[in-house]
Amino acid sequence: MAKAKKQKILFVGGEALPFAATGGLGDVLGSLPAAVAAAAPENDVRVVMPLYAQIGKIWREQMKEEAIFTVQLAWRNQYCGVYSLVKDGVTYYFIDNEYYFKRDTLYGCFDDGERYAYFCKAVMDMMPEIKFYPDVLHAHDWQAALSVVYLHTLYRRAPGYENMRSVFTIHNIEYQGKYDFGILQDVFALNFEQYSLMNYGGCINLMKGAIQSADIVSTVSPRYAEEICTPEYSHGLYHCLCDNAYKLRGILNGIDYTYYNPAIDSVIEKNFDVKTIKGKYANKTALQEKLGLPTDEKIPMLAIISRLAAHKGLDLISEIAYNLMENNDAQLVVLGKGEARYEQFFLSLQQQFPGKVRALIEYDRDLSKRIYAACDIFLMPSKSEPCGLSQMIASRYGAIPVTRETGGLYDSIKGYYEADGEVIGNGFTFANYSADELRERCEAAIALYHRPRKRRALIEKIMNTDFSWNVSANSYLDMYRTLL
Ligand code: GLC
Repeated sequence: MAKAKKQKILFVGGEALPFAATGGLGDVLGSLPAAVAAAAPENDVRVVMPLYAQIGKIWREQMKEEAIFTVQLAWRNQYCGVYSLVKDGVTYYFIDNEYYFKRDTLYGCFDDGERYAYFCKAVMDMMPEIKFYPDVLHAHDWQAALSVVYLHTLYRRAPGYENMRSVFTIHNIEYQGKYDFGILQDVFALNFEQYSLMNYGGCINLMKGAIQSADIVSTVSPRYAEEICTPEYSHGLYHCLCDNAYKLRGILNGIDYTYYNPAIDSVIEKNFDVKTIKGKYANKTALQEKLGLPTDEKIPMLAIISRLAAHKGLDLISEIAYNLMENNDAQLVVLGKGEARYEQFFLSLQQQFPGKVRALIEYDRDLSKRIYAACDIFLMPSKSEPCGLSQMIASRYGAIPVTRETGGLYDSIKGYYEADGEVIGNGFTFANYSADELRERCEAAIALYHRPRKRRALIEKIMNTDFSWNVSANSYLDMYRTLL
């Protein structure tokens, strides 16, 4: 066999675990690069993200200074430090500038446009400083979109960049980075020649610029790749995506199978795997006890672990929750924060059903794992879901997902039934965005819970479904190969 050609890949993104994250993007940038590196050890895989104030001391102590230089962003000359550390075979770079990245939150600042323009410019200018020019620049979401735009415009002819190819991955099309044209030159350091590249509906649209500039555009599930080419799901970008459909592809995310592993997870009450599913019930009774719920492994426990936002299907849940709790001997545990109306809703549901419902209005990764390990049924009725990771984590911890057939939920969870004693599918799913359909599927899942033999067969099937990066890491490698 011919020796595989070595590829240099640089992932660019606004967050990566375990350093700093706000959502699923952090999970992916914290595990996909290592999976790509493991699947093709001849490759050189690196990641770059901002050095946020939120990145803890344990990581900072391991960092090495790589370079210090000045980044020019329009008329600004800004300090830039580059630090690095190696983790799981991947070199992570951190762009240091306290003026931009020492903030209370990762995103949501008034000057996000300037902050991430600086970040992307720094990524491009870092390459000669650290003497690393990737073959593939792989940018994720709007925060990294300008790196692809800069490569395509300002850097294309510069030595070292001529043959660099680019991939832009959309994790969520809702957040596009839209700005007024007044700042094209002054903040984004682009000029009038790039007007039509950046223009979408009369304003600057960073995501649109990246879609247009990238050699390949990918998204995080095959189904979402189809959905975002329709008006219903594209948040206005479908014209641009239809024009670029020839370079669009969908690759389903995986999850980190070492971090999410009930057999060795040190934060859960009792370890278990598919052969020792009984152990799961020790996790359930421990959580019931901790939350002050009736301790009884026979009561099915439903769970929601989610940002409390409408598109996660919480309006459907709020429509059915009261009746579901009233009519069934079941428990519901909710973990997450978000829109005040949903926080309020779950808190009052807890007041109405003190012996059945717990609303934990917070975000805590360890606690989330204890809930995945404890619950029997996991609800995720999203209105749209680019990929979704929670349904995969729930499956790994033996909880039965109830999901709506959209985006990555459609690609990962298939409706359950039995044919000739064989289990088909791996969850309860419904098609329409309807509270009735959700209620019906929840009740079907609760009914199955009371049939231990069938329940066990389904849980075995679910826990045996492979949601690791094994498959998708190779799809990414194939994609990179087509570029070179
Ligand atoms: C975003 C999407 C989510 C996806 C994640 C990682 O958070 O909303 O569906 O799983 O990115 O790609």
